[in-house]
Amino acid sequence: MRALFTVCKRLSEKAFVGPSPIPSWVPRRPRSAGGVPACNPAARRLVFSPLSEVLEKLRGQVEVRENFISEEEERALLRELEPGLKKKRYEFDHWDDAIHGYRETERLRWGPECEAVLERIRSAAFPQGSQLLGPVHVLDLDQKGYIKAHIDSVKFCGSTIAGVSLLSDSVMRLVSEDKVEHWADLLLLRRSLYIIRDRARYKFTHEVLKDEDSFFLGERIPRERRISVICRNLPT
Ligand code: OGA
Ligand code: MN
Repeated sequence: MRALFTVCKRLSEKAFVGPSPIPSWVPRRPRSAGGVPACNPAARRLVFSPLSEVLEKLRGQVEVRENFISEEEERALLRELEPGLKKKRYEFDHWDDAIHGYRETERLRWGPECEAVLERIRSAAFPQGSQLLGPVHVLDLDQKGYIKAHIDSVKFCGSTIAGVSLLSDSVMRLVSEDKVEHWADLLLLRRSLYIIRDRARYKFTHEVLKDEDSFFLGERIPRERRISVICRNLPT
């Protein structure tokens, strides 16, 4: 599996074209199963692009659901993951790697509480009967760690990537492969779920910004150590 994640991660780094000074707000997608109610007037915007055509292109292919898991569920995941992760060292020195300052693992069998969370992620992200990658990918980013722009391997990973963020808020940036000025930022709050699928997954790179670049709509989003729990489907 290690080889899979190695190839899953890396590719096509892109120069970043900075945020436009004229922000526009993106309507929130309503939440469904597992999230908090859809009609929450105080809800924060979680996806932003200055270009409406980019939002149009990403419509239905990018979702961020705030509070997808509870604090108790986050603790349960951490209880299960920490012992294994702590035995590994963060890797910083692979200059050609898409990820900087990370350790990772994969996990096939989970305790019942975690399994229930994973099942919720799967039913939110994948159509019923999808063939999923068996082991769940767990990526632990150090406070100084970050993920450079890349597209997951099309050979090993299917059309959809779904991840829950633990321990820290962060900003994920999508940049069009064809036009670097076509970009969108996702605010990934701690305990939220993101889903990227189809064109958003194949035609846009994704990256997780390093602490000093971590802003969403001009607001500083401090990056602490962050663990993501990522489910993927298999290519068809
Ligand atoms: C990856 C990746 C995103 C995340 O491992 O390929 O893009 O949320 N991870 O950690
Ligand atoms: Mn990726």
